[in-house]
Amino acid sequence: MEIRTLKEEEFSKLLSKLCSIYMEAYKELPNYGYQNKSETKRYLKWLYGGDPEGFLVAFKDSEPIGFISCHSNWWDSKLEKVVGEIHEFVVSPSFQGKGIGSKLFEESIKYLRNKGRNTVGLWVGEESDKARRFYEKRGFRYAGNWGKWRRMIKEYEID
Ligand SMILES: CC(C)(COP(=O)(O)OP(=O)(O)OC[C@H]1O[C@@H](n2cnc3c(N)ncnc32)[C@H](O)[C@@H]1OP(=O)(O)O)[C@@H](O)C(=O)NCCC(=O)NCCS
Repeated sequence: MEIRTLKEEEFSKLLSKLCSIYMEAYKELPNYGYQNKSETKRYLKWLYGGDPEGFLVAFKDSEPIGFISCHSNWWDSKLEKVVGEIHEFVVSPSFQGKGIGSKLFEESIKYLRNKGRNTVGLWVGEESDKARRFYEKRGFRYAGNWGKWRRMIKEYEID
């Protein structure tokens, strides 16, 4: 398994496959993800465009099997500061539970910390128990609700 960023050209080439992974991963959680290909495409382009270096893809045998997308310069209006924001995180269902998500997450945090971010935030669906437990286990704490979404934050020690 390999984790790496994508050049713009490669992102465009893989976009359809990345959309399929995303839609498959959210099949069981339809309230929290787009189920329509053109909306998903637009969303993934927005994710990549906001911070191409923060868009990390896991490959197995040269095929993408999951990705994580963060923006390293995200304005958190509640905290009134720039944070590292993890926007999206999916692993193809047939590859889940094998530690791939953990590795993607670790790499994303490493990237954000290297960019000088000491606070990392994300939103998780209130019914996404598996993802919530995943974040809690890694030190993220509940920081409020917005509709069906729960805010989770982790503060790191200042280097
Ligand atoms: C959340 C998500 C990305 C996690 O990906 P994943 O590849 O399954 O993650 P991992 O395998 O690293 O970890 C999940 C669990 O599998 C188990 N696991 C980890 N490594 C393992 C291994 N080598 N073998 C077997 N099981 C393992 C662990 O129990 C782990 O739970 P933990 O949090 O207690 O460590 C994935 O479940 C997903 O795509 N969910 C749907 C979309 C979603 O909800 N995304 C989050 C949006 S906020």
